[in-house]
Amino acid sequence: MTRLLAISGSLRAGSSNTMLLDAAARLTPDGVEIAVYRHLDELPAFNPDLDTESAPQAVLRFRSELQKSQGVIISTPEYAHGVPGALKNALDWLVASGEMYEKPVALFNASARGTFAQASLLETLTVMTAKIISAASVTIELTGKGLDSTGIIADPTISETIRSAVSAFAQAINAG
Ligand SMILES: Cc1cc2nc3c(=O)[nH]c(=O)nc-3n(C[C@H](O)[C@H](O)[C@H](O)COP(=O)(O)O)c2cc1C
Repeated sequence: MTRLLAISGSLRAGSSNTMLLDAAARLTPDGVEIAVYRHLDELPAFNPDLDTESAPQAVLRFRSELQKSQGVIISTPEYAHGVPGALKNALDWLVASGEMYEKPVALFNASARGTFAQASLLETLTVMTAKIISAASVTIELTGKGLDSTGIIADPTISETIRSAVSAFAQAINAG
């Protein structure tokens, strides 16, 4: 079983990025499991002084979720031409601990406009030595569509794009 952790950069209840990841979790091919991480807002503000063996519990749980996963899917909005603070904060907790070293990452994007955030996220992940899998990274325009995960799954074009991206991701992971 290939386990993937999906992280949305949006804390909004109706977030299109979270809906996209929820849909992906419901469309997994055989042999693939996606867990959607829902605790970004529980991570305290990153402080290197707290980044010790007794780091905050929420941080330890987050790292453990990553250790259990062979790959990570990130889907994020753009805020003021940047990565949302909650997502950048979560990544900052992983810089020294190493869960992202060589970790395969697929970048999903629910808005084609968010090019600054995508570029910035790519730069951060690259310096953390994550392996970005381009074949599994997709932009699916959901802005203004008001679709929940069931609506996303009901759209045959979108659901096929998601399925193909997740399959390509699992293949890249399993090919080493
Ligand atoms: C405070 C704030 C700042 C934003 N700044 C940008 C921006 O700089 N560029 C952009 O393309 N969209 C920007 N947006 C729009 C969001 O990125 C967009 O609506 C996104 O699809 C929301 O994702 P979500 O549905 O997952 O929450 C901003 C939204 C908010 C709330």
